[in-house]
Amino acid sequence: MRTADIRRRFLDFFAERGHTIVPSAPLPTPDPTLLFVNAGMVPFKPYLTGEQAAPWPRATSVQKCIRTLDIEEVGRTTRHGSFFQMNGNFSFGDYFKEEAIGFAWELSTKAQAEGGYGLDPDRIWVTVHHSDTDARGIWREVAGLPDARIVARGDEDNFWSMGVPGPCGPCSELYYDRGPALGREGGPAVDEDRYMEFWNLVFMQYERGEGAGKSGYPILGELPRRNIDTGMGLERMATLLQGKDNLYEIDETRPVLDRAAELAGVRYGADAQADVRLRVVADHVRTALMLLADGTAPGNEGRGYVLRRILRRSVRSMRQLGFHDPALPELMTVARDCMAPGYPEVTEAFARIVDQAYGEEDAFRATLKQGTTVLDTAVSKVKAEGGRSLPGKQAFLLHDTYGFPIDLTLEMAAEQGVEVDREGFTALMNEQRERARADARARKSGGATDTGALRTVLDAHGPTEWRAWETLTTESKVLAVLGANGPVPAAREGEIVSVVLDRSPFYAESGGQDSDAGRISGSSAEAEVLDVQRPLPGLVVHQVRITAGELAAGDPVVAAVDPEWRLGARQAHSGTHVLHAALRETLGPTALQSGSYNRPGYLRLDFPWRGALSQRVRSEIEEAANRALRRDLPVGVRWMPLAEAKELGALALFDETYGEQVRVVEIGGAWSRELCGGTHVDHASQVGTVALTAEASVGAGMRRLEAAVGVEGFGYLARERDLVSRIAEQLNAPRAELPEKIAGLLDRLKAADRENARLKARATAAQAAELAGRAVDAGGTLVVTTTADGTTDEARALALAVRDRLPQGRPGAVAAATASGGLVLALTAPAREAGLNAGALVKQLLGGRGGGSAEIAQGGGIPAERLNDVLAELPRLVGGH
Ligand code: ALA
Repeated sequence: MRTADIRRRFLDFFAERGHTIVPSAPLPTPDPTLLFVNAGMVPFKPYLTGEQAAPWPRATSVQKCIRTLDIEEVGRTTRHGSFFQMNGNFSFGDYFKEEAIGFAWELSTKAQAEGGYGLDPDRIWVTVHHSDTDARGIWREVAGLPDARIVARGDEDNFWSMGVPGPCGPCSELYYDRGPALGREGGPAVDEDRYMEFWNLVFMQYERGEGAGKSGYPILGELPRRNIDTGMGLERMATLLQGKDNLYEIDETRPVLDRAAELAGVRYGADAQADVRLRVVADHVRTALMLLADGTAPGNEGRGYVLRRILRRSVRSMRQLGFHDPALPELMTVARDCMAPGYPEVTEAFARIVDQAYGEEDAFRATLKQGTTVLDTAVSKVKAEGGRSLPGKQAFLLHDTYGFPIDLTLEMAAEQGVEVDREGFTALMNEQRERARADARARKSGGATDTGALRTVLDAHGPTEWRAWETLTTESKVLAVLGANGPVPAAREGEIVSVVLDRSPFYAESGGQDSDAGRISGSSAEAEVLDVQRPLPGLVVHQVRITAGELAAGDPVVAAVDPEWRLGARQAHSGTHVLHAALRETLGPTALQSGSYNRPGYLRLDFPWRGALSQRVRSEIEEAANRALRRDLPVGVRWMPLAEAKELGALALFDETYGEQVRVVEIGGAWSRELCGGTHVDHASQVGTVALTAEASVGAGMRRLEAAVGVEGFGYLARERDLVSRIAEQLNAPRAELPEKIAGLLDRLKAADRENARLKARATAAQAAELAGRAVDAGGTLVVTTTADGTTDEARALALAVRDRLPQGRPGAVAAATASGGLVLALTAPAREAGLNAGALVKQLLGGRGGGSAEIAQGGGIPAERLNDVLAELPRLVGGH
């Protein structure tokens, strides 16, 4: 059965049962929590939550969807598509479980001749949420399914939400057994390839809040009404009904795959790796076509970046298949012909679509050509040197100079069996940002320090709708662009300005947490966010550098926090709380944080304490912190009256004025409870690790702990390990024996030093005796002059040794010069009694420089060629006395 037929049967079936047919919404969605529609229910979300009254009690649709979270899986498994269509039937407070299950069963199993899909009822398995006894009962009754084919599963598999706050509920899924050739017996819990899911029925009853993963969020309450949301994978049903192995081989994608194989001169099915690439091309070309048709343009951020990445991946897959010419002009046409029957817009907009696609392909081919050479050279070098990881510096160069996004570098390096030092890459990216910030400060441009101008903006527009706690992306409007001298109508590429938006997802620097990095993109401008501050209460000001185009007041923009950055910031801030609690657990409650700073990968924390912490105490603190991470203590955020927070012992750490209601961040409940406005992880284990890197004094009675957090923490530990390995290698000792080995070496070194000194003393004594024996008489004074090897100190020791060996009771003078032009002069007591003065003599010899006591004096700076003359002068001076 053709895909178009499956689609029509679905809509007809539900229309006959009182559902209004609603056309697919465009892929880009106005829902600020999503980039693209990713499920059939997205356009109906306000009706499901009860926010708006549904215009119809029942609806049905075939919705275009994009999911790119699993993009790496595309082509490798049989059932991941970046673009797919979801057939759905919806009830807004009308029918519920019984009908939903009945409809799905009827349509799936009804004979094809009667308008159904004709699936074999004996090969259908279903899953239900383990708590949902109703659903199990209905399946038994409506479908006559034996209990063995009704599988109970937990939240991970059978509780559905959009992945973001919104409606949710337990679900029940239908699977089809594709036969023993595709995997083991035992149902969907055993093998999801053999048993392919094709329909999901969600019994939407609840509303969920913020939180990560498939179960790490709170249920906020019941929805006003019970709804039904179902999703039948159109491509999956086509795979089943067309008897194909996977969804890339169905009628809507196979022609693209075949054309790609033809162009590259390969045969599908001959080589597993080539097959994956062909499937990637088939999937991605269609996805790009549909995105372009719906108005998304390739870009560097958000939606545009998803599209760019997809286009680039298809171009690269074609190159890897051996086809180096422009491929999209060939493939896009085939994809259009496949999709046009269902989506006339792809034909109408085709001229524009191909214009954008080909432009992107050309630009990318040029980038690839240059960058690939650079990357290959770097990779060969790494391999030649026996390394396994491409330095962050190289990845940064590829990004900065050749426009290679980091994920492309990662992918291409991985293909050659080399990793990438991501940490080094991130550090360089951060440095670059820091430089730009410092530069902006130095130039005093874009500072908008003029609070008068900011006050005017605030008065005119009111406070910024600040969304940093809920989302990473907002659709916003530029309210004002401010240069160094106040508001300007617009700013152009290269300029650094301050931008005020009506709403912002950016965290403004406060409470020790650095401001978010990210971008602000408009239809004609791109800007990099350098700094975010709240100079006036309620007003968020973004300092940005315009990287392309022109940004003007009034522009609609998408403000997007760099998700990697924010993840790092959350880890670092939660890491700071954990370290603080660990510090107090170890040192007691007086070790109260008096200041802190954190940004991705790094944190520091100051606290009053007298004296340095011993290595043992530092290890104890670090261990207490990491124990909390390992126990995966939950992180919770609660609002409560200030008085209640105080009562609970929440730590208020800054000289801030708090409002009536305060935000309390708890890690492991009372273990760490602080008043805090920062962004945090959901579970302690998401911090990864906290590795102490330094402990030092910062002023009287104040210590500072510094730590590397998350990936950087692991990187720090890896470097330490590397260092230990190198030392172990050098000392040729097992790691565990290193301290002993080093102590032994130090002992031997000390003994050798002592022996050395003893031998030297002996040699000096012998030399001194010999020199004393060669003293010359200069007018009654015995004079010895010599040139000593070594330092002035050694010359001094020699001069004294010689002097002490001169005959007792006679005036004597000893001068020892060094090769570097130093001179030491020592006199015997009788010489001094006779009126000689070492200090004066040195001054005379060196023309006024040098000095010391009457007994011993020294000077320096004698040119080598004058050394002998100076020494020869001594007997004359002494003798003439
Ligand atoms: N909304 C449900 C899903 O996407 C049907 O699986």
